[in-house]
Amino acid sequence: MSYSPYLLKGQKALVTGASSGIGEASARCLAKAGAAVIVNYHSEKEEAQKIVHDIISEGGEAIAIGANVAKEDEVKAMFEQMFREFGTIDILVNNAGLQKDSPFVDMTLDNWNLVIGVNLTGQFICAREAVKEFLRRGVKPDISCAAGKIICMSSVHQVIPWAGHVNYATSKGGIDLLMKSMAQELAPQKIRVNSVAPGAIKTQINTAAWNTPEAEAKLLQLIPSGRVGVPEDIGKAVVWLASDDSDYVNGTTLFVDGGMTLYPGFAKGG
Ligand code: BGC
Repeated sequence: MSYSPYLLKGQKALVTGASSGIGEASARCLAKAGAAVIVNYHSEKEEAQKIVHDIISEGGEAIAIGANVAKEDEVKAMFEQMFREFGTIDILVNNAGLQKDSPFVDMTLDNWNLVIGVNLTGQFICAREAVKEFLRRGVKPDISCAAGKIICMSSVHQVIPWAGHVNYATSKGGIDLLMKSMAQELAPQKIRVNSVAPGAIKTQINTAAWNTPEAEAKLLQLIPSGRVGVPEDIGKAVVWLASDDSDYVNGTTLFVDGGMTLYPGFAKGG
């Protein structure tokens, strides 16, 4: 994949949960497009450092910073370090997320709180810290038309109910209105807020759903496009939403799901 390295030149990006999967691909794609990138990680420090190393050896700029996005003090410390190192933030990719699956009746409060805390509250805290800086700095016309861009990582499960994953689907449904309400409130300040809603993408979070031929064949029944997605499918969408190419796109969700939300069960009529 090739981008103009000038697309996001001079811009500073933070990608949460960037030590693997969709976050990693987003960080790598943003760096290829010319942004300096903070690779946030929770526990996978070495993986994050490897990504930073790769980006730097390809001529880009990156730093790894550890923080649990569900913890306000850790998020604030991460932003402070980012501002010390990079001066400001132009792009936030609110990506960190996890699953703790169980039948509804067995779902513990701890697993409910963990998923809502990271997937939803974590996006709120990071977005609020980014917005403070966007408002302080305002638009820098030589860098971007916007004062700042936020991309929220949602899921097809912001609209598709998901038995056995009630905490996760609830967090993603929440992200939809978090994103839209922020977009509505902040548009006058030239801040753009959008979501990407991935379908099934080959990452650690869902390995069991695609790593055997039987599992993959079953999964493909849900994907009209006939292939399971790869992290770069999402990274490319993130770059577009972060760039001025999408300047008139605000408060929307870009589904990158190979058609998973097209009710494939109805493909042959009924
Ligand atoms: C989940 C994956 C799942 C996909 C499609 C994603 O949001 O994290 O585990 O494969 O949705 O169901």
